[in-house]
Amino acid sequence: MRKTKIIGHRGAAGTHPENTMISFKEAERVGAYGIELDVHLSKDHVLMVIHDDKVDRTTNGSGWVKDLKASELKELDASYKFGDKYGFCGIPTLEEVFEWALSNELVINVELKNSLIDYPDIEQKTINFINRYQLKQRVFLSSFNHESMVKANMIDPSIEAAILYMEKIYEPWEYAKKLGLRSIHPYHRTVREDIVKECHQHNVSVRPFTINDEAGMKKMISYSCDAIITDYPEKALKLKKR
Ligand code: G3P
Ligand code: CA
Repeated sequence: MRKTKIIGHRGAAGTHPENTMISFKEAERVGAYGIELDVHLSKDHVLMVIHDDKVDRTTNGSGWVKDLKASELKELDASYKFGDKYGFCGIPTLEEVFEWALSNELVINVELKNSLIDYPDIEQKTINFINRYQLKQRVFLSSFNHESMVKANMIDPSIEAAILYMEKIYEPWEYAKKLGLRSIHPYHRTVREDIVKECHQHNVSVRPFTINDEAGMKKMISYSCDAIITDYPEKALKLKKR
């Protein structure tokens, strides 16, 4: 039986401004095993930690991330929806997150947001940073763009790359292995116990997303998923201790 680890989705997005340092620090404070975050490239090719293709939903700005320079993105407040609760929270660069990660032991799931937008060489750029910070044992990549994960794996097979998916895949362990990959990040409603078992028999790790209710968490833990990705890492950890 594998013990299920808890990964804070966009940090602790259920309670804190998503994909901000304050959110990542909250996941660390509550004792999460790791954090998940999303990256895009700015106009001047800086890896920025933000979920959407545009800044409109999560910040006080507007426009496409790809059309704004890092210095312009840095001026935006990613916690504006929370009023004064957290003060100004800038959009972090991936480098800032890695710098902070040197002071802790968290695992970091970097999701490349390159399904709809083609960011040239985002895989190589991300891998360069992982290697510069010597974090390859603690970082794994994921993307809904499976071709991109194959590319990342070809650049550096020692960095784990996972496929994200929403719809059911037939025998996902075979699919992952066919791509040369060893982990899957499925939408949690596609996951069954027999699928987790088969994956583990084929040395494929299973980390479903995004599980926020207790029943769903309990189910994934009872299936021995390798990790669950949740907006509420504190709640998940308390549940595990019960
Ligand atoms: O990594 C799991 C999850 O983050 C994928 O979906 O849209 O929340 O980035 P999304
Ligand atoms: Ca994500």
